[in-house]
Amino acid sequence: MIIQLRHGPFWNFSYVVGVPGSEALVIDPAWDIPAIHAAASEHDMRITHVAVTHGHHDHAHGLTELVERTAATVFVHQAEAAMLAETFGGRVTAVEHDANVLLGPLRVRFLHTPGHTPGSMALYVGEHVFTGDTLTTAGRGRHGAYEGAAAQLDYSLTRVLAALAPGTAMYPGHDSGPSRSAVLGDVLARVRR
Ligand SMILES: [Fe+2]
Repeated sequence: MIIQLRHGPFWNFSYVVGVPGSEALVIDPAWDIPAIHAAASEHDMRITHVAVTHGHHDHAHGLTELVERTAATVFVHQAEAAMLAETFGGRVTAVEHDANVLLGPLRVRFLHTPGHTPGSMALYVGEHVFTGDTLTTAGRGRHGAYEGAAAQLDYSLTRVLAALAPGTAMYPGHDSGPSRSAVLGDVLARVRR
């Protein structure tokens, strides 16, 4: 199951993904950590995995608080691992493109989607993809200010995300589009126009 929580002044989404009675993955822990714990325990899920789609503060500042209570493993793309370990102050597991990890009966795939930040990643679980700030339900995310960022974002959208099945459900990092989730192929078609 997927629980989508919206919080904070920028309408960030955090996600709790898992199977009731089993383990859960939290994506982008920020703003209201007690609400994330409550959502997981309401469905009898134990938070064992945490991932950040990228290291921006509004997606990651709840890491310390969340991990203190769960001892969950924190996954971050290797390009942002050092930065995040410093701000978070705990241990992180750096992953590279196409790494994967088991979450109870589910498999989580990490897809490197640079452009918004150098170490942005999308998470693919079942028929669902969590795109962070790379892709909103309105279309293309905002590219970063660093050299080559726009070209990297193009690559991530047209090569990495477009390689997934068009019927995949996509879940963004902010409530900034026309809907809170969308069909990946529909959104990517708008990006290319
Ligand atoms: Fe961001």
